[in-house]
Amino acid sequence: MKSLLTSALPYANGPLHLGHLAGAYLPADIYARYLRLMGREVLWVCGSDEHGAAITLRAKKEGIDPREIIDKYHALNKGSFESLGISFDYYHRTSEPLHHETSQEFFLKLLKRGDQFEIKTTEQYYDPEANQFLADRYIKGTCPNCSFENAFGDQCENCGKDLSPTELINPVSTISGAKPELRETKHWFFRLDEHEAWLKDWIKTGKVDGVQLHDPKDWKKHVVGQCMSWLDGGLMPRSITRDLDWGIQVPDAPGKVLYVWFDAPIGYISSTKQWAAENGGNWEDWWKGDDSELVHFIGKDNIVFHCIVFPAMLKAHGEYNLPVNVPANQFLNFEGDKFSKSRGWGIELQEYVEEFKDFPNSEDAIRWALLRNLPEQQDADFTWDGFTEYHDKDLADKLGNFINRVTVLTHKYFGGRVPAPQGRVAPLSSGEGSGERFLAHAQVQSEVTEAVYKIGKDIEAFRFKDAATTFVELASFGNTYLQDAAPWSLFKANPEDPAIAETMYHCAQIAAALALTCTPFIPFSANRLRAVLNQSPATNGDWQLALDTLAAGHPLLSPEHELGEAGVLFPKIIDRKDDSRNAIIQKQRDKMAAVLAAKSEAETTSEKEARDPFKPEMTFDDFLKMDLRTATILTAEAVKKSSKLLHLTIDLGSEQRSVVSGIAKHFAPEEVVGKQVVCVTNLAPRKMAGVLSEAMILMAEDGAGKLVFVSPPDGFGDGWGVR
Ligand code: 2FM
Ligand code: ZN
Repeated sequence: MKSLLTSALPYANGPLHLGHLAGAYLPADIYARYLRLMGREVLWVCGSDEHGAAITLRAKKEGIDPREIIDKYHALNKGSFESLGISFDYYHRTSEPLHHETSQEFFLKLLKRGDQFEIKTTEQYYDPEANQFLADRYIKGTCPNCSFENAFGDQCENCGKDLSPTELINPVSTISGAKPELRETKHWFFRLDEHEAWLKDWIKTGKVDGVQLHDPKDWKKHVVGQCMSWLDGGLMPRSITRDLDWGIQVPDAPGKVLYVWFDAPIGYISSTKQWAAENGGNWEDWWKGDDSELVHFIGKDNIVFHCIVFPAMLKAHGEYNLPVNVPANQFLNFEGDKFSKSRGWGIELQEYVEEFKDFPNSEDAIRWALLRNLPEQQDADFTWDGFTEYHDKDLADKLGNFINRVTVLTHKYFGGRVPAPQGRVAPLSSGEGSGERFLAHAQVQSEVTEAVYKIGKDIEAFRFKDAATTFVELASFGNTYLQDAAPWSLFKANPEDPAIAETMYHCAQIAAALALTCTPFIPFSANRLRAVLNQSPATNGDWQLALDTLAAGHPLLSPEHELGEAGVLFPKIIDRKDDSRNAIIQKQRDKMAAVLAAKSEAETTSEKEARDPFKPEMTFDDFLKMDLRTATILTAEAVKKSSKLLHLTIDLGSEQRSVVSGIAKHFAPEEVVGKQVVCVTNLAPRKMAGVLSEAMILMAEDGAGKLVFVSPPDGFGDGWGVR
């Protein structure tokens, strides 16, 4: 079986940070390395995503060609990945002609089918000063959902709601600052709605046309959950073209390019094609063959594109395999907050590589810390304390220490050669039943075999954190076994005691199992560990070979095999005698402290006021400006496409008005009908989510966030001013 792996193509408009690495690249690297060690056929493709509005926007702002940006960040990100041992088989670019051709062919194939696109003329915002149609991201305005003033045309970053630019209140072009105008333009819409039924079935059951393609139990719950909530909301045709000059030309439609999310996943295909062109092999075997399994590694923000849109595109094309799994990760935070380039919060990959260049094992130290704390099922938080702790406790104290002791003792008692087992086991000196408890040959052997097997099975099931835990447990088992068997005590009593050889033989096997199974996690250290054991770096098939060897009851390191010299493999970060590593980390902590200090300094008066429970003093005249009245709610209904808003009609006595109120999370429409309320009636009317609001209802909120109406007592007359 072939495994075709993809990792989300990073946008080439900025550097990647640790959160990205933990999301879509480190897990995929562990998976790819493991499969290779199992002797499987693996192809792992990735590359730079070089189109999209964000890149053009940035180029425009900086007055440079987009190419300058993508060349810079393609090289930077590719280099960071290489430095950290991310072992893609191919890292392509979507600006390459091969990718343009591949995407255009894909588009034309769907167009030819006749039923996959509808071409519609719609009204879209146009910037009259910059003379161009505006991509959704180029428009900012007030969010109709939460009133955040800097919402983008495609999404409000404050409340997370997906928006369309025409929903924004007071839209402005981010290119020129001009007020955009609606103009007609023609676009191609992919009929995603036509794919809804089979997609639902596929996500729920893993079946398409009755054929079982995957077991849905193998998919992460949060991935299936997100897909189902999209599917239950109903799929709509999606526009897959844009009026831009940077991107892949829509054939025979000058001025139109393919939407970046249409061409980006096709980038996985063109990356495979380029790999095949350079390495030989048939790219189609990987994408279309019955013996090939496709797995997409992504972060949770890309789930919908990889589990709904791209599968629909692949199915519409008709020849491609669907992914057998999309083990998306949640987000990683940094020291308790979101990574933010603009606030300087976090650490970029290249920054890490450079600032940790004098830190021994820096590549594996970060890989290990991220692995132990991967956001597999929920968001996780990276901290420098955690980084230090995982390094010192797992790698230094358990792994490094064990391998070191095994080599030192083998040299001491057996001239560095793995002794043959003697059949006399050492009584264990500690723990329950010590002195009577023995770990028989078969028990140690099966402990090692099971661990090697279980680590692999966890990796295969994308449970990378569990795999790391089992690995650490194997190292702990080794340490405890050696400590309990205490060959040094046996040696003191009788240097010829065969239990010494028995113990050191088993310790050598545990050490070899550790040096092999750590390879996917910490590949740089794995090579060093194997060198200490006098083994060459692990190659394709070695894990499977080890499983076969263990299953046959044979050793991983045969008697007489000569071990190398150890030394300290993972110098501890917290070390009283040498503070150099801790000093490197301290610099990072200092940087974060400086960011926090600058933030508090720069906090504006209004932010300070926002934290202060009391607003500044106002005059009595200010207060009199407000027209407060009692009213009765006559009707209430949910506002379409909004989870927060209710549309109410209120009776002021003298007149009725339409009001949009953000209380839908707290009250069902039927609960509020008939309620007497107090409202402000002289605020300027405004539209929210497309519905006119002509008054504001006063609410009170308690410390727990519970909302209640500010109401006059029941039976109080309607429409009276409030005194
Ligand atoms: O979210 C992102 O960073 C996108 N550039 C991911 C694209 S994934 C794929 F479709 F190529
Ligand atoms: Zn919002």
